[in-house]
Amino acid sequence: MRGALHEYPNATADDLRAAIGRFHGVAPEQVVVGAGSSTLMHAIVAAFTEPGGEVIALDPSFTVYREIASIHARVPVIVPLRKQDYLLDLDRRAAALTTKTQLVFLTRPNNPTSTLIPLADFETAAQLAARKGALVVSDEAYIEFADRSDVSAVPLVRGTPQQPNVMVSRTFSKAFGLANLRLGYAIGTRETARGLALANAKWPTGAVAQKAGIAAMEDREHLARSLKIVREGRASLAAFFNGMGLPVAPDPQGNYIMVDVGPLGMDAAVFADKVFETGRVLIRGDFDLRHVRVSIGTGEENARLMDAVRRVAGRVG
Ligand SMILES: Cc1ncc(COP(=O)(O)O)c(C=O)c1O
Repeated sequence: MRGALHEYPNATADDLRAAIGRFHGVAPEQVVVGAGSSTLMHAIVAAFTEPGGEVIALDPSFTVYREIASIHARVPVIVPLRKQDYLLDLDRRAAALTTKTQLVFLTRPNNPTSTLIPLADFETAAQLAARKGALVVSDEAYIEFADRSDVSAVPLVRGTPQQPNVMVSRTFSKAFGLANLRLGYAIGTRETARGLALANAKWPTGAVAQKAGIAAMEDREHLARSLKIVREGRASLAAFFNGMGLPVAPDPQGNYIMVDVGPLGMDAAVFADKVFETGRVLIRGDFDLRHVRVSIGTGEENARLMDAVRRVAGRVG
């Protein structure tokens, strides 16, 4: 790999793609890298859809899909998640499929709900979409944090038979803690990866990012340590909020939880502001009137948050 800053990087990030291939048990030819997975989503839309084509995304979910679809003159189609468990309503999703559907983004685990669409439901959704000729992306930005390791859609493109209309996007921004490096990747079949690479930037990442990505993937111990901190923190924060009568969206699997602060009789944005004023802890309360998203921190950070929440809730009650 070339390393000097005045030289252009390896345009196809061969060493990094080989490392990603080893990590996931796929061929390097099935991997495409980009400056963050959100950048690759532009290339996915450009490669696999046409102007006027419909791009399905969930609600609530990562809003970037609909923005990208609109920027590219595609039509975003929003499918609401099931109210009771914030998971995919397969009937609703099936009803949203039309002859114009070209792409479906399913976020696993979902942001901001932290809920994880089961792999079996994802597979069914992909089979239904295949009948319309649509590609289905499993956005797995947060999947490393899931309690179980067998939930990724990567196996659907790994072996035989492959599900040819499935693509998985992943990132170094979350579990690997390298958000500022801007590095992400997509895994598909050899054929879809080739199509995506054509629509991708010419030099999608630099040598520094490529080397750092390889080092991060090879440091399994560090990854395991980070995941353990997040999983334990998630369980204790979820128990804390549920115990306070503030329901957490069920079975959270990301490095955040979504909490219903409605029982406090306070708008989510006001609650988030008060938590910040009280404990200098930043949480997001701008999704809707009832819900905040709380990121999992270290044990000390989580304790500070719980203290601030107790004080804010105490003042209300
Ligand atoms: C669901 C989801 N996908 C993708 C991304 C973008 O990640 P990246 O840093 O790889 O562009 C985010 C960032 O918050 C996200 O929430």
